[in-house]
Amino acid sequence: MTAKDFIDTNDFTKDELLDMIELSRVLKRCVKAGYFPELLKHKTLGMIFQQVSTRTRLSFEGAMADLGGTGQFYAPGTIQLGGHETIEDSARVMSRLLDILEARVDRHEDLVELAKYATIPVINGMSDYNHPTQEMGDLLTMIEHLPEGKRIENCKLVFVGDATQVCVSEMFICSKMGMDFVQFGPKGHQICDGGLHVGTPEERAAFGKELMAIGEANCKVSGGTIEISDDISVIEGADFVYTDVWYGLYDDEVEGDSYMDVFYPKSQVTPDMMDAAGPNSKFMHCLPATRGEEVVDEVMDDPVRSLCWDEAENRKHSIRAILATLCPQS
Ligand code: CP
Repeated sequence: MTAKDFIDTNDFTKDELLDMIELSRVLKRCVKAGYFPELLKHKTLGMIFQQVSTRTRLSFEGAMADLGGTGQFYAPGTIQLGGHETIEDSARVMSRLLDILEARVDRHEDLVELAKYATIPVINGMSDYNHPTQEMGDLLTMIEHLPEGKRIENCKLVFVGDATQVCVSEMFICSKMGMDFVQFGPKGHQICDGGLHVGTPEERAAFGKELMAIGEANCKVSGGTIEISDDISVIEGADFVYTDVWYGLYDDEVEGDSYMDVFYPKSQVTPDMMDAAGPNSKFMHCLPATRGEEVVDEVMDDPVRSLCWDEAENRKHSIRAILATLCPQS
């Protein structure tokens, strides 16, 4: 993996990430004013999706069009990636035919392998490990909705529920920015328990330690903090309350329907939970949401508190900047 790829925000400094956020804001203003700078004219992005997607696919494809380039969508199961053709060979071929590549993969190792052999930039469109372009859209959204008088470094985000790859990603970006990150979730489903990683209890515990070590290393540099708890009192003072589905997109994450017993009702984001967070706290969700499970309608549709639609729109604004930063320009 090299810095030309966007596999993990931990491969970038805080300043590099904030530069991309600033570019997102500039390009957002340009596009909203009807000006479309052709930064990627005649460039082609390949978009591999091994899983379904609405926001990520539409954002990448739209962002390329906005900048004068083209996005080619490869639906789940329609392109070689480690089947008959090795990932190494696919990476070499795609590097000859494309200018930049996005991949949403089943297994993070495949993405790392792809980036290792590709000679064009590779962007992570979500894996079972993390979701870095979601992090960037969320960072842009938080910066646009900072509480009065606060800098991003002074904000607290509480992630409610399961240690999904989005939860891990929020820990990465918050700790990188120097924020206070909290996961409120039941034991056994906390980041320190190993996130989405499957395997033996020992393997999961080791993976949980690895994830925490990355976050703690970020905090040492940034001054941020990380807290993991199953005590609801941690919600107090949250500027942003974030949640994700209780069952993931990956088969091995949950056994049957047991997730309702594990998470309901304690991990459901309700108006009462939002009130406990604070009168000005905002609600965030990467979407898609399962209404009535991890969040109720009154919170999701709250016109003042809910930022989830801004987050969805900001996926495209931030992806535009990631593409413009990484794609070699002629
Ligand atoms: N949040 C997100 O990645 O949405 P999609 O799965 O629809 O791309």
